[in-house]
Parts: sequence; structure tokens; C-alpha cells
Amino acid sequence: TTRKLLLLPGDGIGPETTAQVEKLTALMNETVGAGFETETALVGGCAYDAEGAPISDATMGLAMASDAVLFGAVGGPKWDGVDYDKRPEAGLLRLRKDMELFANLRPAICYPALAGSSSLKREVIEGLDILILRELTGGVYFGEPKEIIDLGNGQKRAIDTQVYDTYEIERIARAAFDLARTRRGKVTSMEKRNVMKSGLYWNEVVTRIHREEYADLELEHMLADAGGMQLVRAPKQFDVIVTDNLFGDMLSDIAAMLTGSLGMLPSASLGAADEKTGTRRALYEPVHGSAPDIAGKGVANPLAMIASFAMCLRYSFQMVAEADALEGAVADVLESGVRTGDIMGEGCRQVGTEEMGDAVAAR
Ligand code: NAI
Ligand code: MG
Repeated sequence: TTRKLLLLPGDGIGPETTAQVEKLTALMNETVGAGFETETALVGGCAYDAEGAPISDATMGLAMASDAVLFGAVGGPKWDGVDYDKRPEAGLLRLRKDMELFANLRPAICYPALAGSSSLKREVIEGLDILILRELTGGVYFGEPKEIIDLGNGQKRAIDTQVYDTYEIERIARAAFDLARTRRGKVTSMEKRNVMKSGLYWNEVVTRIHREEYADLELEHMLADAGGMQLVRAPKQFDVIVTDNLFGDMLSDIAAMLTGSLGMLPSASLGAADEKTGTRRALYEPVHGSAPDIAGKGVANPLAMIASFAMCLRYSFQMVAEADALEGAVADVLESGVRTGDIMGEGCRQVGTEEMGDAVAAR
């Protein structure tokens, strides 16, 4: 088999962290015949500088033709003045839109070696392994009308509209149950059905999909505000949390901070499954940005990028054992006391980006 992987390192620390994944693909090709065919292209500010757009049509074509895209980060002060539709972030937005990536997976995993460094009590987060599934292409960020209108009497009115169609809720619900089936079999759906029609309908559709297609799994409903409280109070009660675009944006950021540094957090964005092949379009990226303050210094933490690659192995290539092994290697390296500056702890050994990548590869 060949596995086509498009690497889009982007700006800032993106190239430094992506290089660590390239070590892993080369190693896996050599040792287990993984058959990765990697190609690298420009995205973000560097693409604007070289090609005049934050993502070129040619690169977009490569993304559509690949089995998975691994995205570093885009942006930086250099491009602050660039036109709105040519700004670095527009490259990522086009990828999400054209690839129809409607499901955003944000795991919150607590590595035992880092449990002590969280602001929460060790017993609350030790062993934490939950997955927040955020609807990414609908809801209030995209619904129409969306405008600020002048009321003429010195007043203006700002309008955003929350819109969800049946198919949008159905497909994110199915994605949630499919994911739960590979985990602990529990889905918690969060909305505000007490005050929002879209919440009421979200609840109805998720309940129906569960009853008709996934009755063997556990479904629980929770109001999104109460869910936020529970995430901080007792996060281990959850397995998969499925929620809309807005609530998912906030809840996933809250969950992220349960586990510590931005440099540790991976994500995946998945599209619809192809009816013939069953494969999904997919993009994997760390949650953090291009970190201009540390770019080029060789000190960035590559573990978020490496963990994103582990998700790619798991969800795009069904390489579950390899994904487990890679995640285990990350845990082992942390356990051994090897740390980048952002997660440095007492008695640990501080290393740079390259050395952290090498340590994981060696495991
Ligand atoms: P950021 O995530 O780039 O950095 C926030 C802080 O965390 C910085 O102090 C940074 O040094 C640190 N940090 C982030 N990743 C790290 C890592 N892997 N290892 C060690 N330390 C790390 O967010 P910020 O500063 O708000 O944005 C910087 C640029 O990145 C902006 O241009 C922003 O638009 C862009 N950005 C891009 C994203 C993307 O490409 N998906 C997401 C977020 C921001
Ligand atoms: Mg956010």
C-alpha cells in the first residue's frame, strides 16, 4: 500500500515541528514498510509571499488528492497588514471549506508525567482521556443573516444566526457514535434546548440517530453550560462529547487547559466518508499557532504535531497499533523526564525540538 500524506508546514514553528513527523514517516517506511509518500507544499504567509495567495489552487489540488493533510501553523506579525482574503488564516479556512471538514476532534488526554503540572488536582485529571467533537462548518459562525444594520436612530443592531439543518446534525451525531464505538461507548451531547430552538432540534436528531442506529451505545444529554462546569469539576465522567460549533469552540478550549500546555494538544478535522471507499477527507493539526516569539530558535515543543500524526495513523490509515505505539512513545519520553521548555518540570532534562523528535523516534 501507499499512503499519500501532504505536509503543509506553514509559518513560524510549523516547519520545525513538521520536520519531526518527517523523521517518523521515514522511520516507519524503513522499519515496517508503512508506504508513506509525503509531499510538501506552502500554506499561509510563506505561500502568500511566494505564490501570491495563502493557498494556491495547485496546493489545494494536492490536498484533495492526498489521503490526509498534516498542517503545521500559519500567520505571524509579518503578514498583519495583508488584505483580509489573502491573510494566512484564509489558507486554513479554504482547506476546511473545500475539503468539507465538518467534524473537529479535540482530544484532552492527561499524560501521567504531566498530571502534577496542571492547575487542577491530580486526582481530577490523572488518566483523563476524553474527546470533544465540535461541529465545524455550520451554526452561528456561518448562519445567515449575519450583519450589523443601522436602525437610523443612533442605534445599530448586530445579528448572527444559528442555523442547523437535519443532515448537519445527523452526520456529526454519526461521527460521534462511530468514535465512541472505538472508545468507551459513551456519547454526551451538549446544547441549550431550554432556550434555543436549534438546541431543541439538535437534541431530537441526536436522540433519533442513537435510537435507530446506535442503540447499543450510551447516550447522555447535558445543557452546555452545565457541561462546562462538569468538565472542570469531574472531566473523567465523559468519553465523547458532541456539540455545535460555538459551544464546541469554547468547551474544547476549556478541556484543553485541563491537560496543560498548548504545545501538547493535537486535533483532527474530518469530512464525509466516501461512499465507495469509506475513506474520509482529513486534516490533522496541532491546536497551537505559529508561535512567532520562539520561531527559528529550535525550542518549540513538537509533541502536539507528533500527537496529531498519531491521530492521522488512527483515523485516516486505520493503523491503530502504530498510533497506540506512538502515543505510548510520547508518554514514555515524558516519563523519562525529557522536556521542552514549555513543559519543563523540576528535575527534568530540557531539550530542543530536534532532540525531542529524536527521543520519540528512538522509542
Ligand atoms: P500561539 O499558539 O502561536 O502561541 C501562544 C503561546 O504559546 C506563545 O507564547 C508560544 O510561544 C507558545 N507556544 C505555542 N505553541 C508552542 C509549542 N509547540 N511549543 C512551545 N510553546 C508554544 O498563539 P498566538 O501567539 O496567539 O498566535 C501567533 C500566530 O499564530 C498568530 O499569527 C495567529 O494568528 C496564528 N495562529 C495560527 C493558528 C493555526 O495556524 N491554526 C492557530 C492559532 C494562532
Ligand atoms: Mg477557540
